[in-house]
Amino acid sequence: MKPAVPPANTAQAWQQLHEAACQPYRQAGRWAWHWARGKLARDPVFRGMLDRGDLPPKAHVLDIGCGQGLVASLLQACATLQAQGRWPAGWPRPSSASAYTGIELMPRDVARAIAALAHLPLQPRFVCADMCRAELPACDLVVILDVLHYVDHAAQLSVLDKVRRALSPHGRLLLRVGDAASQRGFAVSQWVDRVVTLTRGHRVPPTWGRPLHEWTVLLQGLGFAVRSIPQSQGTPFANVLLVADLARP
Ligand SMILES: C[S@@+](CC[C@H](N)C(=O)[O-])C[C@H]1O[C@@H](n2cnc3c(N)ncnc32)[C@H](O)[C@@H]1O
Repeated sequence: MKPAVPPANTAQAWQQLHEAACQPYRQAGRWAWHWARGKLARDPVFRGMLDRGDLPPKAHVLDIGCGQGLVASLLQACATLQAQGRWPAGWPRPSSASAYTGIELMPRDVARAIAALAHLPLQPRFVCADMCRAELPACDLVVILDVLHYVDHAAQLSVLDKVRRALSPHGRLLLRVGDAASQRGFAVSQWVDRVVTLTRGHRVPPTWGRPLHEWTVLLQGLGFAVRSIPQSQGTPFANVLLVADLARP
């Protein structure tokens, strides 16, 4: 068999990954498929993680507040691209998972995730649970994208402390939050969040934000070394991705 031709560049590879990561959602209904297409295309966080090499190879991934499991589908698509020898040289390192657990509060999202993704070779596991009460499995990468503001400040600290204990000594947390210090962007994020929550048929809960500085100090206090990556380019939001690494002996 002829070796597969590598994608010419990262833009082309991203196009292929987008297509592949959306495909499984066709069997979870039109809504799930359209949501995957729009979110993966418009939210800069997904491609950004590949551009920067934020996702370590062969990671044991825990995705908290995973929604319909877009990260799992993307990681499966990455694994397929690598197996075909088409990972582009322009990305710092291949991203992949050897295990994936998603924790999600909303049964409807969990049902969509299972319908779309349970059969994939990665065999992602989806647990319908409240992150504040759930036991977290041992892992080396935790992803929490736009979730922590749904619980109060004490609960945020308690979840982050559980995350630290679940992570391996050199584990990584990718935490996206809104920067409450950027009042306008944060207000827009909150407004969009409420509309989306309602559209998905959920009750709109109150939310608890923090300024970026406070998030950073909180994580440093738990023993993480923290880098912040702005996520608002091309959007009206005040989102920031915190790359938080443990370095325990
Ligand atoms: C804005 S969505 C983000 C979904 C996903 N992380 C993504 O980026 O596509 C926030 C998700 O967190 C979930 N969530 C909120 N509170 C939660 C809790 N206490 N435990 C688990 N999941 C929760 C919501 O149901 C929702 O699916």
